[in-house]
Amino acid sequence: MSVGVLCAVQGSAESIIVQAVERTGGRLSVTRRCADLTELLAAAEAGLGRLAVVSGDLDLLDREAVELLHRAGVRVVGVGDVTRPWLGERLAALGADLVVMEPQDDDAGGAMVREALAILESGGGPESALPPPEEVPVRRPAAGLVVAVWGPTGAPGRTTVAVNVAAELAAAGRRTLLVDADTYGGCVAQVVGMLDEAPGLAAAARAAGQGALDLMALARLTPQISPDLRVLSGISRADRWPELPSSSLDAVWAVSRALCEWTVIDCGFNLEQDELLSYDTRAPRRNAATLSALEAADVVLVVGSGDPVGIQRLVRGLSELTDLGLGGTRMVLVNRVRASVAGAHPGDAVQQALARYAGVADAHLVPDDRPSLDAALLEARTLREVAPGSPARRALAAVAAQVDVMLAPVAAAVAG
Ligand SMILES: Nc1ncnc2c1ncn2[C@@H]1O[C@H](COP(=O)(O)OP(=O)(O)O)[C@@H](O)[C@H]1O
Ligand SMILES: [Mg+2]
Repeated sequence: MSVGVLCAVQGSAESIIVQAVERTGGRLSVTRRCADLTELLAAAEAGLGRLAVVSGDLDLLDREAVELLHRAGVRVVGVGDVTRPWLGERLAALGADLVVMEPQDDDAGGAMVREALAILESGGGPESALPPPEEVPVRRPAAGLVVAVWGPTGAPGRTTVAVNVAAELAAAGRRTLLVDADTYGGCVAQVVGMLDEAPGLAAAARAAGQGALDLMALARLTPQISPDLRVLSGISRADRWPELPSSSLDAVWAVSRALCEWTVIDCGFNLEQDELLSYDTRAPRRNAATLSALEAADVVLVVGSGDPVGIQRLVRGLSELTDLGLGGTRMVLVNRVRASVAGAHPGDAVQQALARYAGVADAHLVPDDRPSLDAALLEARTLREVAPGSPARRALAAVAAQVDVMLAPVAAAVAG
């Protein structure tokens, strides 16, 4: 049986490609000539083909579209144009499995089809056919690591931990990027005192979606607030979450790994995968940013609040992460530990509760330290700047030091 080809190519190349496909002796056959991206995606989702041939300048073609094709089991051949060499780079950055120049005659058409057949026969997932990393700016060899800071609902202190751990890593000389990926109430920019409305994560996601996010572009989008600390601010209004699709964010994390040694992502609390509730798998997901960050993370800092309600939510949150297969490498932090709500020996009480109900024996405790945290908020600066000797800062600096230990083998491997 022949393999169906979906053809979304504009101009004179279309008939050359269609004829070349028809000369494959039945191995390939064009099942749909698509006028636009919507038609192409519909045909792919209807299972009409396993190969899509797509013009590099097809309207609205972006990373998400290529990912949707891949998810529908369709390999993507991008057709570039000699007069516009950047189209080829763009197609590669969008994740096309093969990028070819527009065939001008039947010989070139035949060669193109043979390459496409080789891609189909190479088997494996779409990724296995991607061009080698150095040709694709967004897939440079990854050096940096990603730490996602997550915690259940109830404001346990995710942002506080993310901001201060990032500041400590940067102060230790690590190039660090702090990212606000909370689609419910992101406030990192305000907490660190960024005055200007920066374009932030939505702009980075947009650029990545168009295959245009490289190191320079990400550097431009991430102001440096101290020598080694860059910040990618969040969405300014909570209703802008559809601007953060996971396919684009995955590319943002990849570029960030190349730009910085540590990427620290402040996540939202919600782990619900709302796509399961909807039959439309192309609908944007509100929690895509959090889920994509947790999937990308090399280590997840799980933050809970040191009161009975907070501990119960933390225990549930930990098992939720496990059920979703997220946070395989995790550090558990209990924040705002205090005697007034946990008894005379609050640290022991918290450790015992976590050991009994979550099997966690090594939680990191951060004491309740209202004066220092308030001073930091008031001045919109980090604890190490406003209260370097404070109990909360000392605890968070110790957490950062332990996180940073993970980088050592990676740094050695990159250097060696
Ligand atoms: N260790 C602490 N001691 C006292 N207050 C804290 C501590 N950690 C966080 N806070 C305060 O708790 C509030 C919520 O913290 P935040 O980091 O914004 O939570 P989340 O990001 O989880 O919603 C903030 O006002 C913050 O200053
Ligand atoms: Mg927060």
